[in-house]
Amino acid sequence: MTSIDHSGGQTPVDHRDQETLRAHVARELARSRQRSTLLTDAVDEDDLVRQHSRLMSPLVWDYAHIANQEELWLVRDVGGREPVRSDIDEIYDAFKHPRSNRPQLPLLGPSETRRYVGEVRDKVLDVLDRSTFEGSRLVDNAFAFGMIVQHEQQHDETMLATHQLRSGPPVLHAPPPPRAEGLALPAEVLVPGGGFVMGTSTEPWALDNERPHHEVWVDAFLIDTTPVTCGAYLEFVGAGGYTDPRWWTEAGWAHRQAAELVAPAFWDRVGGVWLRTRFGVVEPIPEDEPVVHVSFHEAQAYATWAGRRLPTEAEWEKAARFDPATGRSLRYPWGDEDPTPERANLGQRHLRPAPVGAYPAGASPTGVHQLIGDVWEWTSSDFHGYPGFTAFPYKEYSEVFFGADYKVLRGGSFGSDQAAVRATFRNWDYPIRRQIFAGFRCARDVRPGEFD
Ligand SMILES: [Fe+2]
Repeated sequence: MTSIDHSGGQTPVDHRDQETLRAHVARELARSRQRSTLLTDAVDEDDLVRQHSRLMSPLVWDYAHIANQEELWLVRDVGGREPVRSDIDEIYDAFKHPRSNRPQLPLLGPSETRRYVGEVRDKVLDVLDRSTFEGSRLVDNAFAFGMIVQHEQQHDETMLATHQLRSGPPVLHAPPPPRAEGLALPAEVLVPGGGFVMGTSTEPWALDNERPHHEVWVDAFLIDTTPVTCGAYLEFVGAGGYTDPRWWTEAGWAHRQAAELVAPAFWDRVGGVWLRTRFGVVEPIPEDEPVVHVSFHEAQAYATWAGRRLPTEAEWEKAARFDPATGRSLRYPWGDEDPTPERANLGQRHLRPAPVGAYPAGASPTGVHQLIGDVWEWTSSDFHGYPGFTAFPYKEYSEVFFGADYKVLRGGSFGSDQAAVRATFRNWDYPIRRQIFAGFRCARDVRPGEFD
């Protein structure tokens, strides 16, 4: 067996060089703002202030909340400056107000929000200009800037999900993703048993829940080469998967019945044919595309019906980053270099998952495809801190969510930005959630004697 390399991934940006780091931060701040602007400029004022679903905030809340967090951390905390608007902190505190109640708050209107967002950003760029990125854990390697960039990109993905829930004609447009390359991919691949390094202690902008790196033993297992497709999922639907409690857990079946689930969210059966609605476009179900908008319960039921199971979080990460040739855990499936359009479907570049097999350049050393981008992947694991976890910079980032209420999702979706996705990145949500861009892939144990 190859030995395990504990050195962790290399960082492509040289964070020791202040000017390089400053330019990198400025670029990332600009990129996230460009996306927030696109998502909020795409709709009229009425759509900005309206609640499109009780599951979501009005878009105008997200936008001001993005700026409020930026103000709290970068203007006040890192910059030590006077508040821009301390009177609105309470309104935009996500922990004080559940999403369903946010439309009732005295929110800033669209033009006031845009003014506030711009004012905060001007101050932040000034703070950035003067920062030496040294002296505290918050500013080392520009961590707080990175945290805020990721926070904005995460809210952009949330706003994209709000767009998906919005009714009316399409307002977002993007070119289609690349086609599948026509490779004959095996249905599943073997990931060898043994230890591997999970999590990271070196990735500069990794969040507290990704830390610290630690060795985890994973028995040999098999995992699907690609996420489960709409075509495969249609077979489950057609085979009566939603009417047979055998495939569901007790909690899953109870939810399926109460919520009257019969297919993934946004699917409708019209004249005997399944169609889906995607950002206002009604279209046939694309059979070769990863299924999206399924809950953990639906993913789990499909896997049981198929005689398989969901991967654990550790299995997913090992499939995504362990290189058996070197014993090292990579930053991404393809290596340590940042994502490119050839490697992964990220950043809302396309408004849908890409067909399976569309990203051979993004495959992992063990031959697993499309782990990063396309669809978030449900795992069977509850959300917990790693051994040695310490909350940073605040408990509400992740620690308050630890426990059995949330399931971990991995890999990011077509709506996740590359700043907020890596092979160690952990997302979590309730097992009933399906407005997020979540799909899954299956795994299974090695059968006795199968590879002897
Ligand atoms: Fe937030």
